[in-house]
Amino acid sequence: MMSPEDRARAFAALGLPRVIGHRGAAGHAPENTLAGLVACARLGARWAEVDVRLTACGRPVLLHDETLERTTGGRGPVAERPYAEIAALDAGAWFSPAFTGERIPTLTEALACCRRLGLGLNVEVKPCPGREAEAAAVLARSLSVQPGVAVLASSFAAEVLAALAEAAPGLARGLVIERAPRPEEAEALAPGVVSLHVAERTLTPAGARALKGAGFGLLAYTVNGRRRGRALLFRGVDAVISDYPDRLLSLA
Ligand code: G3P
Ligand code: MG
Repeated sequence: MMSPEDRARAFAALGLPRVIGHRGAAGHAPENTLAGLVACARLGARWAEVDVRLTACGRPVLLHDETLERTTGGRGPVAERPYAEIAALDAGAWFSPAFTGERIPTLTEALACCRRLGLGLNVEVKPCPGREAEAAAVLARSLSVQPGVAVLASSFAAEVLAALAEAAPGLARGLVIERAPRPEEAEALAPGVVSLHVAERTLTPAGARALKGAGFGLLAYTVNGRRRGRALLFRGVDAVISDYPDRLLSLA
């Protein structure tokens, strides 16, 4: 079991800022696109969070939903489509005509973009039942092909986090969980994670104190209001993940 001191040290080594762009900067540009990463950096944030899924042929691409309908011109589950089909889709027009032509990036393209922009990246691997080992191996490969970006990998799926511990032992990992857990619950669910990424409304001051006491980095999503951001940062949350990082940056 990781000691609170070792966990806190590993989390601190990431140098995470207080404000992280959600899905790039989802309030300003289409989520999970390169334009979103550019917007995030332009607004002054130093890290972005993105969602990653596997295509049928095993390419890691940036997309939040299981299916393509909401944010692209495509249809059906991403996991059943070959990359060639995914790569041709428009991922910007749904957000605004100004972003027509924006594509679904691969993780490698996103990492290259972050390196150019000087952004760190929280890679949230979406659950992929039965393909956890594949997802972890693919993520490890992408990071080795495209080094030079500070990365925190996270997931709602404990199976993904366990597979990542095997495939990329040096990679910092975080558990995404809707309800803030107790420290011992978090350790049992996802051994060795350095951070907990929790839905902001579930965080009480006492819960935050207990998790910080156990050495966990504490991230709250999705925080778009200044007053709420200020309260969370004040009560010990290390970072807030926001669609509008610009609204919160002056609090940091
Ligand atoms: O990683 C934190 C947050 O992004 C989790 O929720 O649904 O926006 O991916 P979701
Ligand atoms: Mg996410």
